[in-house]
Amino acid sequence: MKIAVLPGDGIGTEIVAEAIRVLDTLELPFEMESAPVGGAAYEAHGHPLPESTLKLAKEADAILFGAVGDWKYDRLERALRPEQAILGLRKHLGLFANFRPAICYEELVGASSLKPELIAGLDILIIRELTGDIYFGQPRGRRTAVDGHFPGAEEAFDTMRYSRPEIERIAHVAFQAAQKRSKRVTSVDKANVLETFQFWKDVVSEVGKDYPDVELDHMYVDNAAMQLVKAPKKFDVVVTGNMFGDILSDEAAMLTGSIGMLPSASLNSGNQGLYEPSHGSAPDIAGKGVANPLATILSTAMMLRFSLNQPEAAERVESAVKQVLAQGLRTADIWSEGTTRVGTREMGDAVVAALSSSITKKTITG
Ligand code: IPM
Ligand code: MG
Repeated sequence: MKIAVLPGDGIGTEIVAEAIRVLDTLELPFEMESAPVGGAAYEAHGHPLPESTLKLAKEADAILFGAVGDWKYDRLERALRPEQAILGLRKHLGLFANFRPAICYEELVGASSLKPELIAGLDILIIRELTGDIYFGQPRGRRTAVDGHFPGAEEAFDTMRYSRPEIERIAHVAFQAAQKRSKRVTSVDKANVLETFQFWKDVVSEVGKDYPDVELDHMYVDNAAMQLVKAPKKFDVVVTGNMFGDILSDEAAMLTGSIGMLPSASLNSGNQGLYEPSHGSAPDIAGKGVANPLATILSTAMMLRFSLNQPEAAERVESAVKQVLAQGLRTADIWSEGTTRVGTREMGDAVVAALSSSITKKTITG
């Protein structure tokens, strides 16, 4: 089993280092190889996603990704900005299914800006389509307007589009995920205004007929944004397009108050996957040793489950994380009165220790 390790920029290197230590502790037959990506790759090779990095990613069973981006690259032309690396990987590897869980850990209920009773026990799975929609739709660009409100004026345009197979495959992913959970799917669209999302709604409904055991409802995206802060626990699996999913997944992550805890997975049809924390590169705290490595560590658990077929190891990693939270250890982002503040490395140490003791126990009890 081969893992491509792409730490990227900002806190990426620090948090990925801890995730690797966790993987090493499992003593499974992985081969790991690192490559630069994002701003780091631009510095080294003049491109955010160099050929060599893309090749490594394509050949791996799974990709462990840190984060990309830094304000210092904001003035580069778009094709050379760090964000293009993640968009390029999604496109070239066909990573169309993005899983973004938003889970509120019992110990961290107080970290949310919402009232504890609204989010205690929250466990939402946002499934975002990741390779279509206005993100990738052609044509796009700048031109002189020939019609519209100001003919002759300079304008910019993007194209929102979805084909039937693109919608069908993500709908199947969502229904199948729901079958393993509480058997409810909310499909989020803007069918009241957009042709693309009327089609989305129609196709998701058709696919839903194959899953009579799953309850499907539809919600407009503006209402979904509102319901997420009003009564988030009403949601279970949410499936939506690329752009709405980008926005709603950040909103859902913040409900939990601890984006530093949330992993994500992006899969293609062969179960090859890219695993990354839901938070970004946080250049303001990079190099200080204070970033929370738990989202990246939990991303390795998703990797073990989805791409490497090691569900038991995944559970062990997840329970090790729960154990360190129960011990009261907190990085700065999730710290509260009465808990112990630790840095990136110490948090990694604690997870490794919890994991090692679970491995020892397993050996002793058989
Ligand atoms: C995300 C990010 C990316 C996106 C950016 C960095 C291109 O916001 O993964 O949600 O918009 O998809
Ligand atoms: Mg985003």
